[in-house]
This record gives sequence, C-alpha cells and structure tokens, in this order.
Amino acid sequence: MGLEQEINRRRTFGIISHPDAGKTTLTEKLLLFGGAIHVAGAVKSNKIKKTATSDFMEIERQRGISVATSVMGFEYKGTKINILDTPGHQDFAEDTYRTLTACDSVIIVVDVAKGVEAQTRKLMKVCRMRKTPVIVFINKMDRLGKDAFDLLDEIEKELEISVNPLTWPINMGPEFKGVYNIYHKNISLFQPSVQSVTESIDFDDINNPELEKYIGEDAEVLREELELVQEVYPNLNVQDYLDAKIAPVFFGSALNNFGIKEILDVFIKIAPSPRPCITEERTIEPTENKFTGFVFKIHANMDPNHRDRLAFVKIVSGVFKRNTQYLHVRNKKKVKFSSPTAFMAEKKSIVEEAYPGDIVGLHDTGNFKIGDTITEGETLNFKGIPSFSPELFKYIENADPMKSKQLAKGIDQLMDEGVAQLFVSQFNGRKVIGTVGALQFEVIEYRLLHEYGASCRWEPIHLHKACWIKTENDEQLAEFKKAKYQYIAKDKHGRDVFLADSAYMLQMAQQNYPDLEFHFTSEF
Ligand code: G4P
Repeated sequence: MGLEQEINRRRTFGIISHPDAGKTTLTEKLLLFGGAIHVAGAVKSNKIKKTATSDFMEIERQRGISVATSVMGFEYKGTKINILDTPGHQDFAEDTYRTLTACDSVIIVVDVAKGVEAQTRKLMKVCRMRKTPVIVFINKMDRLGKDAFDLLDEIEKELEISVNPLTWPINMGPEFKGVYNIYHKNISLFQPSVQSVTESIDFDDINNPELEKYIGEDAEVLREELELVQEVYPNLNVQDYLDAKIAPVFFGSALNNFGIKEILDVFIKIAPSPRPCITEERTIEPTENKFTGFVFKIHANMDPNHRDRLAFVKIVSGVFKRNTQYLHVRNKKKVKFSSPTAFMAEKKSIVEEAYPGDIVGLHDTGNFKIGDTITEGETLNFKGIPSFSPELFKYIENADPMKSKQLAKGIDQLMDEGVAQLFVSQFNGRKVIGTVGALQFEVIEYRLLHEYGASCRWEPIHLHKACWIKTENDEQLAEFKKAKYQYIAKDKHGRDVFLADSAYMLQMAQQNYPDLEFHFTSEF
C-alpha cells in the first residue's frame, strides 16, 4: 500500500466527556467492534475515584493504566483507527488539552440526563480553538433524560457549534425502542441486555405502516419528530463537519452496545484522515515523503530505578522507520530509535514503520520535551501545543538543602513531562508551580521524593491568572515590567508572563497598557 492510501485509511481521534458520561464504556465497545478486545471490562477505567485524592497507590495505579491505554489502535473494515486516551479527571485537564493536539477529530460523549457539563464545555473550547471536527454521542438513552430537541438546542448553545442529528431516538428510558438512522434510512431496535448488535431494518419510507409492527405507537411520534428534524436540520454537509462548523449527533447506549455500530460506520466514512500540521516555518502535508513528527505526551517510567521515559510521537508526514537517523530539532542532535513502540489495543509491539496519524512510543532518557519536533533534517517547530493559564499556584521550596540538585532536576523533568507549569519570578527568583487541580501538587511532591530523592515544601502565593504577554511596543513593555516588577515571571521557555493577583489588577493592566496583549494561553 502506498503512503497516500495508508494516510487515507487512518483515523486518529480522542473521546472526551465529563467524568461518568460513558467515555470508558464507549471506548471499550468500539474496541470490541474492532475485535481488538474480546470481553467487556478489558479497558480499565483510568478514573481516579474521588475518595482516592490522597491515595498515592491509586495515582501510581492510574499512571500504570494510562500507559496501557494511551493509544488504542485497531482495524475496522480496512480502516486503521487510533483512539487517544484523555484523562477524565479534571485535575489532569492539561494532559487532555495536549492529547487533543494530536487528534484529527473528536467524539464528545454527553449523558442524556445531565446534558452538557462543565468539563465538556472546557474541552470543546480547545476543539474550537483548533477547529477540530467533532461528533456528539448522546449516551444512556436507556435512562430517562432530556427531550432530544431540547438537548440539541443545549448542545448548540453550550458548545457553540451547530448540530445535525444523524440518528434519532425512538422514546427513551424504559420505553426506549431504538434509533432511526437518518443517514442510512433504517431503524435499529433496542433490546436491553442484548449485547450483540441487532440487524437494522430498512425504512426508506417512514410512512410505511410496517413501522407500527416494530415500534407500535411510537411510530406516529417518530414520524412527527422526523418531519420536524428535516425542517430544522437539513442534510449534513460533510465539509461543514470537517470545517468544524457542524457536529453530527448520534443517540445510543454505550453500556448496551447500542448505537455504536451506527456511529462507527459513519465515523470511518466522514471523519478526517490525518490533517496538515502547522509549524512556525510552514504547513506540513501528511503526504510529504519525508518523515516529521512531534512529541505530545511524555510518560515517566513507573520504576523509580529506571529513569527512562516514553515519549509519544504523532507521525505527521512521511514514513517513520525503526533504526533510522532523525534530527531532534530543539537539541540539534541526531537520534535513532531501536525499539519504537506501536500500540494495538492493550498490546504493545516494536514497530518497523509507522504512517501519518500513527502514534509511536520512543524510549527517552530525558532529552524530549512536550512539543519537540523530529524530522529527517529540516528545521521545523510544531505549533499548537499551547500551555493554558493554570488555576492554582504555589511557591515550591527545597525542604532538604543537601538535595537541591536533585530537586532542580526533578522539577525540570516533571515540567518537561507536562505535569504542571513552572514560572520563575523575575523579582525574587523563586519558583512558582501552576496546576489545574490540587491533586498535581501532591503528585509532584510524591514523585520528587520517590523518583528523585528530593523533598519539597509548598508556600502559598495568591494569584489569579498567569498571562503571556505579547506586544510590538517594547517601550510600553519595559514600562509595564518596571511598574509591575513584582509580578513578572518567565515560563520554562523564557517567555514573559504576568502573574496577575486579581481580575481587577489584570483589568487595570489591560486598560493602562493598551499596546500589550495579555493571553491566557501560551500560543496566540
Ligand atoms: P467515564 O469514562 O466517562 O467516566 O464513564 P464510564 O464509561 O466509566 O461510565 C460511567 C458510568 O455510567 C458507569 O457506571 C457505566 O456503567 C455507566 N454507563 C455507561 N454507559 C451507559 C449507558 O448507556 N446506560 C447506562 N444506564 N449506564 C451507562 P458505574 O456504576 O459508575 O460504573 P461500573 O461499576 O458500571 O463500571
């Protein structure tokens, strides 16, 4: 198979949801379809239970699972599908944001009873920023929930995207009969507790009285609803989906394996194959012959005696080959990988070749950082792995003066891995760690001690947001830095960051220094 064919048959995507909406269940059912796993329950939930926030064994266990489920590849009807796992716990949202940069599309799971929830809203913002095509799966139709029309309105409003239902539910909860497939014009009947897929019955003409035979009185309601659907939601324009202007919507029940085949069959048809990637220098087309790829995730070894890590690289163009010399652009060093890992469901194997859209795991002894680019020699720097302003901030201090080197190294490596963000105050040189959730502080402290033998101490600092500063007006920047010298820091790439201690302070800065742009993400 040629490069172009290999690219066209690949779909690399992520499943996102608010915790408990059914992401893990849906992932598992998709894997079952692909024959990648054979029993339900094989995909371990990577959820950290609420009660376990201080249970470090739980965190370690979760880290172990998250290596195994980082990438789940499988074949379905000649399509190579790569599902990239996104941590559900909101404290690890930054991980999820980064993983989204390696996804060519996304499936969003929404609980029919709960509708759009906080985490979904946040993640959708990232998809919008990157213009990632999204498909919505409304889950748990076997339970009573919101009216389908109301829910679609809610999704349009809350996720700020137009929707287009491709299946339509026939009743819900205990009365759930199944879905009408608008795309294929057939119905699939729901049989609770039957985990096998029911054959769909063709219904080109929904007015056919045969329909009553299958769904009784619900037939009339379905006809009325579909009439309305046709008025409100015209036929899907696939290009609008690919341009991230419209989200196709499916209804089903992941737990009951219902509605999954419908979504998968449409997904392989319409979801994008690997897309071009923007670098600081130029746009890279996947079909270019020369290999390029970027690191979007780094996973440290679970065994503290082996400090090696696994860097997850998304292949962007060309063919990646084992034992071939490549350029690590940031380090300007030649690198070669003898045991690149490919991921097929839970299995890992050494891979000889990988194509655009694929993810390979590269063993690394501490050379890679998130966002690093590997090429055949060209100097390219991938864009689009932004850092987001953290929500929580603390000073990190050395609690064991004998171990300051270990502490510095530990902090450095954990930041490269993307566990949290480091800002160095330009005023007093103190290190500020910023995180999305409280759990990360505990993770950092634990890992510094266990992997680096270093002890740290946290001290409070009251901050509202970290803002990356951009301006053409150097004079105003210098003036601002002078006036706010206590609040200026550098991020790990040496970029200027304003640590605003309140929303008011930020507002005043924006007002008084109109030529300065304050950004909540590191790329703009
Ligand atoms: P998450 O990864 O998005 O956090 O959600 P997960 O798949 O773990 O699902 C959350 C809960 O919702 C699970 O129940 C799961 O069984 C249930 N669930 C998923 N899909 C459906 C569905 O279509 N219908 C119904 N009724 N429930 C569904 P749990 O009791 O929290 O966990 P478990 O003990 O069943 O694993």
